[in-house]
Parts: sequence; C-alpha cells; structure tokens
Amino acid sequence: MSFLEIKDLKVHYPIRGGFFHTIQDYTYAVDGVDLSIDEGKTYGLIGESGSGKTTIGKTIVGLEKPTSGKILYNGQTVNSKRARKKLGYNKEVQMIFQDVFSSLDPRKKVIDIIAEPLRNYENLTKEEERKKVLELLNIVGMPGDSLYKYPHEFSGGQRQRIGIARAIALNPKLIVADEPVSALDLSVQAQVLNYLKKIQKEFNLSYLFISHDLGVVKHMCDYIYIMHRGRFVEAGTREDIYNNPIHIYTRRLIAAIPEIDVKNKEKYYMIRKKVEEEYNNYSSLFYDEDGKVFDLIQISDTHYVAIKDKEALKNVENNIA
Ligand SMILES: Nc1ncnc2c1ncn2[C@@H]1O[C@H](COP(=O)(O)OP(=O)(O)OP(=O)(O)O)[C@@H](O)[C@H]1O
Ligand SMILES: [Mg+2]
Repeated sequence: MSFLEIKDLKVHYPIRGGFFHTIQDYTYAVDGVDLSIDEGKTYGLIGESGSGKTTIGKTIVGLEKPTSGKILYNGQTVNSKRARKKLGYNKEVQMIFQDVFSSLDPRKKVIDIIAEPLRNYENLTKEEERKKVLELLNIVGMPGDSLYKYPHEFSGGQRQRIGIARAIALNPKLIVADEPVSALDLSVQAQVLNYLKKIQKEFNLSYLFISHDLGVVKHMCDYIYIMHRGRFVEAGTREDIYNNPIHIYTRRLIAAIPEIDVKNKEKYYMIRKKVEEEYNNYSSLFYDEDGKVFDLIQISDTHYVAIKDKEALKNVENNIA
C-alpha cells in the first residue's frame, strides 16, 4: 500500500521583470507528475540539472507550495501547515540536503544539531536526550565523543552522517535525500550509501533518492522516475529502466554512465554516438512540436513511458530497442 501519493503535481514559479516588476512568464519547474511511495522501498528521482527534482522534494516536505495537484498521506490531503501537523506528517517525512555543510548550523554542537527535532516534538529530559543522541550517532557509525564537537571538526562524509542521524531522530517513514552523496569522494559515497541501506532495514524506511546520476542510484533503488523538463519521461523498476529503457532521454542517461565499459573506450563512444543519432532521428516520437514531454503510457505492470502513442512505441521497438 502506498502511504504517500502525489497526483498531478504542478509547481510554477513566476518570472518577474520590467519596470513594475510584474509577472512576465512562469518557470514550469514541475508540470504534472504522479508518484507513489510504498513502505520500506527506495525510489530514485533522476534527471539533469533544472529538471525539477529538488522542487518535487521540497514540495513533498512542505518547503514549497504546489501550484496545483494533490499530496495524499495515508489517503488524507496534506495541503497546509495545519494538516501536516495534525497528521504527524512533519515528523514522518524528513529531508537530507545536497549541501551538507550549509544544512548544519556551524555554531551549534552536534548534540544540539541532532536533538533539535527531538526538542520540537518530544519532551525528553536532558539525560534521555543525551542517550537518544548517542544512540543515533552509534547507528550512523559516529563515535560518542562527537557529541560536543562542531560541524567544522568533521569530514564531509562524517557531516553527512550527522545529517542522517538528525533526519532519523523522529523515526520518520520517508526520507527525501537530495543528492546526499554528490559532494563526497567516491569511496566515502559508498560508505554513506551503505549506512542509508542499513538504517532502512532497521527502521523500515522509504527513501526518495534524488540524483542526476543513474550510476549512483543503480544499486539503491527499487523503482525509478526519470525526470525531464518538469515531467516524468519514464518510470519503472530498476530492471525496466536499466535493461529495457525506452525513452530516448533515459537511453541517453544510461549511455552516459562512464562505468558502462571503461575497458573498451571505443565501444563506449560508439554507443554514445549511436544514441545521439537516435535522439535526433526519433525525437518527434517523444516530444510534441513545442518540445513538451507526452503523457506516460503504461507498457507493462510496472513500466511507464512518455511517448506519442502505441504506434510510436512499435516504431521504437522495431528500430532502436
Ligand atoms: N525558488 C525558485 N524561484 C524561481 N525559480 C525556481 C526556484 N527554485 C527553482 N526554480 C527553477 O525551477 C527549475 C527546477 O529547479 P530544481 O532546483 O527543482 O531543479 P533540479 O532538478 O533539482 O536541478 P539540480 O540538479 O541542478 O539540483 C529550474 O529552472 C530553476 O531555476
Ligand atoms: Mg536539485
């Protein structure tokens, strides 16, 4: 059962200009997306810079207001601060940010950073609080003497783990993780991802994992949404997306994963070149005249693709699949 459902979400930002600072146009940051989240699962939200990923994440946690569309939590509409509070939504849906350092207050000690959400929602004694924070530090593999240190005393990977400890303090059901490892070295990335996986099992957490890199999420996600120009161009299980990508944009992203065949550079560049040619030849099957992404069509139990029509799908299967 999906505990979180997003229906036809749109977030449009006004673009102001001119002498009177009037609205000239809108940025269609998110332009009609549906998404559902089940318990204990990891979802990938992938797409290039500016495609609207962070805007979706922020709207889910209530930092951004939908222009239209619905967010349903256990079947109830979440459309205001009051509703979020009443449903316990603020506790159960947390976000970890891309920029680890600026998301942690540099003047606060680790104990105060991690305990802040507890102080907002739970009435713990000082001793209970210290115990709870120690427990959380332990879960993310940080030593107990971190309690009274400041963020600048830690490495990037350690700071991200402190951010994770803070995000799980209230026992959430969903964590929106916006590029949680993209600022870290490769070896540290793997370590942080492993902690996220471990915690997931312990707490039966769901993740919405935001990234521009299909390579990073490959081993993390059960289900993946590919975002482009404020819409989803494809959605499916990990197998659907990596083994049977249909949308030309998804194929482009996959061809760009450098690990695909580093041993055979020539083959790698050939595949990339072929995908670029296909992109030019078949783009009218995937975008309308204004360059807008079509609506999603269901092509299997789990797999959806934004394509002109069934005829276009056949065309793709015969020519480029
Ligand atoms: N507060 C805002 N006001 C106006 N426009 C905004 C605002 N936030 C985002 N945008 C615009 O909305 C679009 C989507 O931005 P968003 O940050 O969601 O993209 P993203 O997919 O997260 O990109 P990145 O990979 O670079 O983080 C962009 O065109 C961006 O400039
Ligand atoms: Mg972003």
